[in-house]
Amino acid sequence: MTIDSPSWGVRQRSPPSSSKLNYGRIDFQSVIGQIGNAIGPSKILQSQTVPVCLPMSETIISVRQVFIDQLRDLYSAETQITKALPKLAKAASAPALKEGFRHHLEQTKKHVERIEALCSALQEKPTGKKCAATAGLVEEGQDAIDEDATPETKDLLLIAAAQRVEHYEIAAYTSAISLAKSLGLKAAVTTLTATLTEEIATDKKLAAANKPALGKAVKSGNEDAKLGESPTSKTFVRTARRLAKEVGFKSPV
Ligand SMILES: [Fe+2]
Ligand SMILES: [Fe+2]
Repeated sequence: MTIDSPSWGVRQRSPPSSSKLNYGRIDFQSVIGQIGNAIGPSKILQSQTVPVCLPMSETIISVRQVFIDQLRDLYSAETQITKALPKLAKAASAPALKEGFRHHLEQTKKHVERIEALCSALQEKPTGKKCAATAGLVEEGQDAIDEDATPETKDLLLIAAAQRVEHYEIAAYTSAISLAKSLGLKAAVTTLTATLTEEIATDKKLAAANKPALGKAVKSGNEDAKLGESPTSKTFVRTARRLAKEVGFKSPV
């Protein structure tokens, strides 16, 4: 029996067919050959566990590829959000909330452009992935729009749906910034932090818009709830200020 004999039943793993990532590949036969050269072929052949434990081929994703994957996911998310925000603005009743959605639409268009610029600088395409999470969140936003509710209560539903989207974006940008830092991509860190701080500022505004909407709903006897700003939002604001300071960016919050 030889090392490369198929009868060894060596496990082989392939990249998931749905993945859009470019996988690096390690030739484990070559690795085994190198081990053989180092310790002597007789020892390798004596120990049949060595090739059985090692796969003939393996896939490795680099940190850079993970970063590009995250950028593509964000690009899909932001693109979907640009289509959803006009619908939220149309469905909102409170003028401040309506204006808030419109303002964030303009910011979101910039977020899309920033990812395009980042990918272009990295000589990568921003397309090729669909963010399933955002598709689900947008669907929930549509449910809020379609809900048979008073204007005040509908505003509360829209705010809740929009805050879910912002929190998702905050998580995604935080991860992307962490990856960009580990890759030493300083310009990317600055660009992504600019977007992150705008997402946090939007979440804070939504939390503030929640107060009058909740107050009106309580007054009209629809709800019995306490008014107050989300403590999570305060944590986000602190994080935004710290990150903005780190990259020398003026925090919008
Ligand atoms: Fe965004
Ligand atoms: Fe956003």
